[in-house]
Amino acid sequence: MIYINENFLKLQNSYLFTTVAKKVSEFQKNNPNKEVIKLGIGDVTRPIVPAVIEAMHKATDELSKAETFRGYGPEQGYDFLKQAIIDNDFKDLGIELDEIFVSDGAKSDCGNIVDIFCKNNTVAITDPVYPVYIDTNVMSGRSGDYNENNGMYENIVYMPTKKENDFVPELPKQKVDIIYLCLPNNPTGTVLNKKELKKFVDYAKENKAIILFDAAYEAFITEKDIPHSIYEIEGAKDVAIEFRSFSKTAGFTGVRCAYTVVPKTVFGYTKTGEKVLLNKLWNRRMTTKFNGVSYVVQRAAEATYTPDGRKQIMENIKYYQENAKIIKDGLNEAGFEVFGGVNSPYIWLKTPNNMKSWDFFDKLLNEAGVVGTPGVGFGNCGEGYFRLTAFSTKENTIKAVSRIVKLFK
Ligand code: MLT
Repeated sequence: MIYINENFLKLQNSYLFTTVAKKVSEFQKNNPNKEVIKLGIGDVTRPIVPAVIEAMHKATDELSKAETFRGYGPEQGYDFLKQAIIDNDFKDLGIELDEIFVSDGAKSDCGNIVDIFCKNNTVAITDPVYPVYIDTNVMSGRSGDYNENNGMYENIVYMPTKKENDFVPELPKQKVDIIYLCLPNNPTGTVLNKKELKKFVDYAKENKAIILFDAAYEAFITEKDIPHSIYEIEGAKDVAIEFRSFSKTAGFTGVRCAYTVVPKTVFGYTKTGEKVLLNKLWNRRMTTKFNGVSYVVQRAAEATYTPDGRKQIMENIKYYQENAKIIKDGLNEAGFEVFGGVNSPYIWLKTPNNMKSWDFFDKLLNEAGVVGTPGVGFGNCGEGYFRLTAFSTKENTIKAVSRIVKLFK
């Protein structure tokens, strides 16, 4: 008899964005003539920039010749890309490190990292939260059951981030072992400054905990004193793993490339108290379960760091930043309470008249043909909130805002 991993049965019916996509496709089937504007999942619309396309073509041609053909590459990524990452993403911030693992996505890495931690670790997440952090811990048995009454999993420590605390999570009151932080935050679009982040680093040091820091949206930071990397914080190299992605930065949501930094100064412990390098475990995990990102894609990622590549991807980021401003200003002027959107491509809005998130979703879809993501899908504290993304075209962004404003006038 084949027994299943019953932890999967604790999960909510389907992954948030799958539920949203299903609802939208049903609506489109029933209303084939209605134009739907999607500001739901954070998927980009700007095409891959010319410098990157050129590098991909060149790399593809290399694969066509016996002398330059490549088969399996290093599981951790080619040195040319790792060096470009170190030089451009970290050296400029004054951070010295070289422990990069190139992968096919920050979502995969955030999900897979749980493999190297003991099932008995206590996990802390913010509420609302990017669902991958919680769902992968549920799958691997680090939570108890889901409590329908309060919308929370047992044995998980929730750190509420809401308007009342300026979206700054409080340190856990009890001892936790693994802390997830996503900054700039998905879904709220808010950030922590260095002082606020330092408190988490100090907590992790004191409690021998680890911070899993998702920096997938760092390229959208516009304000000073907002850290782009957790390693800008003193002591973080001893307690943090950082995830980065080319998805939103360079439009790689379909191309797939990301990386994870696991410094050789971050340790975990055995039951008998022996210190073990997490880098060693992650390396073992990756070499066993992953065969590396394709050569063509890694050359493409490398090209995002060339002067032309940098300039071109920055233009796209600016384009999305302008969309974020269009949404934020437009909704603000119409009387909505709006958060995020300054250092992030996500806009987090309070639903009018305390409308439930899913009711707001249905109203917007049915009456305005605009898709967003219900805040409650990210956690209990997201109830009564709604997330819009800035990744659409400028034209559709303007149209969507005017439709929302008209609907709630
Ligand atoms: C989101 O919409 O939250 C993101 O696109 C999801 C992801 O990056 O996996």
